[in-house]
Amino acid sequence: MHIRILGSGAGGGFPQWNCNCNNCRRIREGKFQGPARTQSSITVSADGVNWVLINASPDIRAQLETFPPLQPARAVRDTGICAIVIVDAQIDHTTGLLMLREHTAPWDIYCTEAVKDDLTTGFPIFNILGHFRGVNWHEVKTDQSSFEIPQAKGLIFTPIPLKSEAPPYSPHRHNTVAGDNIGMLIKDVNTGKSLFYAPGLGEIEPHVKQTMEEADCVLIDGTVWTNDEMSNEGISDKLASEMGHLDQSSKGGIIETLNALSKPRKVLIHINNTNPILDENSPERKRLDKENIEVSYDGMDIHL
Ligand code: MLT
Ligand code: MN
Ligand code: ZN
Repeated sequence: MHIRILGSGAGGGFPQWNCNCNNCRRIREGKFQGPARTQSSITVSADGVNWVLINASPDIRAQLETFPPLQPARAVRDTGICAIVIVDAQIDHTTGLLMLREHTAPWDIYCTEAVKDDLTTGFPIFNILGHFRGVNWHEVKTDQSSFEIPQAKGLIFTPIPLKSEAPPYSPHRHNTVAGDNIGMLIKDVNTGKSLFYAPGLGEIEPHVKQTMEEADCVLIDGTVWTNDEMSNEGISDKLASEMGHLDQSSKGGIIETLNALSKPRKVLIHINNTNPILDENSPERKRLDKENIEVSYDGMDIHL
């Protein structure tokens, strides 16, 4: 399976348009060691021809231009994207659907009922797409039952329900229901290898830990280094935990969780612009290097 990181940043990307935090200011000034990042999205394929887009970021247009396998090749209007999987209804994971409105057929979109509810009410993107070619919604269940996508042969998807947070416009905000947030275990039937992808992870429940232990690669929530990182810089009064993201450095945080795993390759994604690990020279990043935890970047390829 080939996994391409289209966008490794969190909502807002890096630098964020209105942000003058330590990182955003320094990258604009050219005084920063590390790349800019677009917003959270990956694509996955077993055959290198049919690609499943997982999350559709507002930056999708630029992301498609960076990756020829997704570009039109076989007809006057064409795409390498054969289906779309959405793991939550957040703006950074769904707004790109509007940019994909010119598709010549209904989009096959796989998401939970809770996400479909948000995308037909609080943020009614599916309704809007109904005025173009429409959406074929495929329900992703929250009982960890696996599914296949007929156009993406060779991949088996197992949704892993997660504790995180529903978007601000969701009727479930602060009162999450099953299916507001999922991770995805993706297995290549030919190689037998699997990826666990979870860009929004608020809590390491036992079934999540077990999934991470079994995967060959975990690609998980790298939003913040500390829980109060955004309030520290005067950016937000919210803790990361209130937004459904587990920080990296605290006791029981992402680093400690990853260090307990012996099998998988460990990679962080959905990195917020305030996170010191974006700076390749920072002590925080050097600590990750030492712990064998990678920080994904736009354009990164993972083969499993
Ligand atoms: C999140 O991951 O918590 C959201 O995407 C934040 C946002 O709306 O940008
Ligand atoms: Mn996000
Ligand atoms: Zn910033």
